[in-house]
Amino acid sequence: MRPSLSSAALQDWSGDVLVVGLLKDDASDSRSNLEQRFNGLGSALEQQEFKAKSGEQVVFNLLADQGPRRLVVLGLGEPESFTLNWLRNAAAKGAKASSGCTGTLGLMLPWDGFEPAAAAAAAAEAVRLALYADQRFRKEPEPRRMPGNLELIGLPSAAETSLASVDADCAGVELARQLVAAPPNEVTPKVLADTAEQLAKDHNLELTVLERSDCEARGMGAYLSVSQGSDLDPKFIHLIYRPAGEVKRRLALVGKGLTFDSGGYNLKVGAAQIDMMKFDMGGSAAVLGAMRSIAERRPAGVEVHMVVAACENMINGSAVHPGDIVTASDGTSIEINNTDAEGRLTLADALLFACEQQPDAVVDLATLTGACVIALGDEMAGFWSNDEALAEGLQGAAETACEGLWRMPLRQSYKEGLKSKLADLKNTGPRPGGSITAALFLQHFVAKGTAWAHIDIAGTVWSDKGRGADPAGATGYGVRTLVNWVCGQAS
Ligand code: BES
Ligand code: MN
Ligand code: ZN
Repeated sequence: MRPSLSSAALQDWSGDVLVVGLLKDDASDSRSNLEQRFNGLGSALEQQEFKAKSGEQVVFNLLADQGPRRLVVLGLGEPESFTLNWLRNAAAKGAKASSGCTGTLGLMLPWDGFEPAAAAAAAAEAVRLALYADQRFRKEPEPRRMPGNLELIGLPSAAETSLASVDADCAGVELARQLVAAPPNEVTPKVLADTAEQLAKDHNLELTVLERSDCEARGMGAYLSVSQGSDLDPKFIHLIYRPAGEVKRRLALVGKGLTFDSGGYNLKVGAAQIDMMKFDMGGSAAVLGAMRSIAERRPAGVEVHMVVAACENMINGSAVHPGDIVTASDGTSIEINNTDAEGRLTLADALLFACEQQPDAVVDLATLTGACVIALGDEMAGFWSNDEALAEGLQGAAETACEGLWRMPLRQSYKEGLKSKLADLKNTGPRPGGSITAALFLQHFVAKGTAWAHIDIAGTVWSDKGRGADPAGATGYGVRTLVNWVCGQAS
């Protein structure tokens, strides 16, 4: 799909499917322009009682000689409530209503009031991402049908700048979706490492994969304890993007990479959704997806280190016992009072490793706690940070990405809950505030003075029903926020 700006007025636009969004009580003349362009449209809309309420949609199939073969009119509701996220949703809706169109899709939305580049990117990405369908596991996959051209009608030329990265960013989101949606017998720790290797080859990145013995030599006892009940080898993945020229900022992206989380001997039973725990590598998928986009966009002045401690949380005769005490690579001893709080054990060693790279900032993404899902649902990830500038930067990046992100407190007194009678820490505290104690556990392994943020994506990694531009299933959450944040620091 080639996105571009169309300089044609509505009157002269020619293409295959035209999608026009109308606000209620629209002050602009979009509606009258439209009615001028299409004979009889005014009375047809009236007949359908179209009021431009949010959610309304009228589709007209037209005769070929009248220009576009299909016209989709979307109601967008009140102008005051029309946010960037609504714009994105409208674009997605238009794309779905034009499904099957492989020619030129025209999209005219109420762009006014938005930063043109952000609006163009949001709309163009929404079109492509809304038409994403995962056919990999079907016997007879249906080919993906996508408009060959997407023309955004009525945007000023300042919007042009963001269109060049639409492809790269969508490819990153789609990579993340594919990794998350693939079952655990398909995406194993080795496959995550292979994916990193492919990215390194395709985009000239630097890759190191530490094997079990390397991790042992580094004393990564917290990480390795999670993996010890699995037949699959752990893979500790370190992928680096180095910019041409001088490095001004060094950033680290850390992702939780549990390709399956059975819970271990604290087995996931009852409502714990064990069958969905393939998505427990969503953090690693997001950072791999982000690296894909970053590598293609090649921002100047920023070096990016991606770190994933990939493994499976399984059960066998050598699996960790509830109660075991293990030691992380900085010497911190941890009493594993719950084998199902495994993500933080892997992240402890991953964060220590990331901080050794001496980054200016570290961001980790993890499907870390069910408690975060209870707190925020599936449209917002929780985030915790020890640094105001980093927090603000991420919040802004998430806003342009239309990814919900809600700041949560690093309430230090809650760390009491992680006190162990024997070891330096326990891996779980009390149930109330469970996503906060998880964040505090991670903070313990972040080097003093390093700006750090933790994003809990347990709720946002997956969408049962689909929403906005996200079809049901893996969302690819986090990729766009990370890419915006990293590329926003280019110099
Ligand atoms: N991967 C899960 C978190 C999770 C749960 C993600 C539900 C998405 C949906 C994590 O490893 C886990 O099991 N966390 C436990 C922690 C508890 C034992 C303190 C949880 O949230 O129940
Ligand atoms: Mn778990
Ligand atoms: Zn987990």
